[in-house]
Amino acid sequence: MASPEKSTDFGYRQVNWEEKQSLVNQVFDSVARKYDIMNDVMSFGLHRLWKHIAITYSGVRLGDSVLDVASGTGDLARQFARIVGACGQVVLTDINQNMLSEGRRALDGQGVINNVNYTVSNAEQLSFSDNTFHCVTIAFGLRNVRDKKAALHEFYRVLKPGGRLLVLEFSQVQSKCLRALYDTYSMRIIPRLGQLITQDRDSYQYLVESIRKHPDQDALAAMLEAAGFNAVKYTNLTGGIVAIHQGEKS
Ligand SMILES: C[S@@+](CC[C@H](N)C(=O)[O-])C[C@H]1O[C@@H](n2cnc3c(N)ncnc32)[C@H](O)[C@@H]1O
Repeated sequence: MASPEKSTDFGYRQVNWEEKQSLVNQVFDSVARKYDIMNDVMSFGLHRLWKHIAITYSGVRLGDSVLDVASGTGDLARQFARIVGACGQVVLTDINQNMLSEGRRALDGQGVINNVNYTVSNAEQLSFSDNTFHCVTIAFGLRNVRDKKAALHEFYRVLKPGGRLLVLEFSQVQSKCLRALYDTYSMRIIPRLGQLITQDRDSYQYLVESIRKHPDQDALAAMLEAAGFNAVKYTNLTGGIVAIHQGEKS
């Protein structure tokens, strides 16, 4: 049993602080190959719409430099690479080499290579200089990060003054009716779909539990403000199943 001062959540379990990252890595090592198809199936394709909306909120333009943290299979990065063009730059970073390799395969397959770089790094300790990026994004990644406070400080540090952070993440469903439906679907169906498609029920059980342990909309907004961000706001999508949080570096 982990000692209370050094423990953290991994889904509903309390685990040792050191152990958490390797458990998260095991989840994504296990699902990397089937990650994209599972996303389409379990969200009925909605994750594409959520990501598209996040991109429109980012304000990213031709020539910008963008860092996509916990980039995984690179859905956001792929779109950003087209928007910033050859005179801009997109960096995909993830702590998991297998997920990043899937992202690289997807981007190479679509001929998006000239303005894209890949780096393995931990969101809690990014390997980039201060004031580097016009925009930092993290989609469905922050929930998995052990020290969210440290990660938010890192996002602030690597943004240029005037740059924008965008966090797309599962959040708290607002209406009671939708919450009841969503709880039933996510707790009963998603782990079974995980078993069927990825032969890994436990990783998708972790997914649904981790959503419920993640800070809600207002708590996350307060964390962005505490990390130094200005003009912090959030937008609920699909009734709060996910939310987009934004903040700016002054
Ligand atoms: C649910 S996937 C999201 C992938 C992609 N951004 C998307 O929206 O489809 C979560 C990703 O977070 C990564 N991750 C988990 N902990 C991390 C950390 N501390 N630093 C960087 N990436 C991390 C995982 O390896 C995984 O690729």
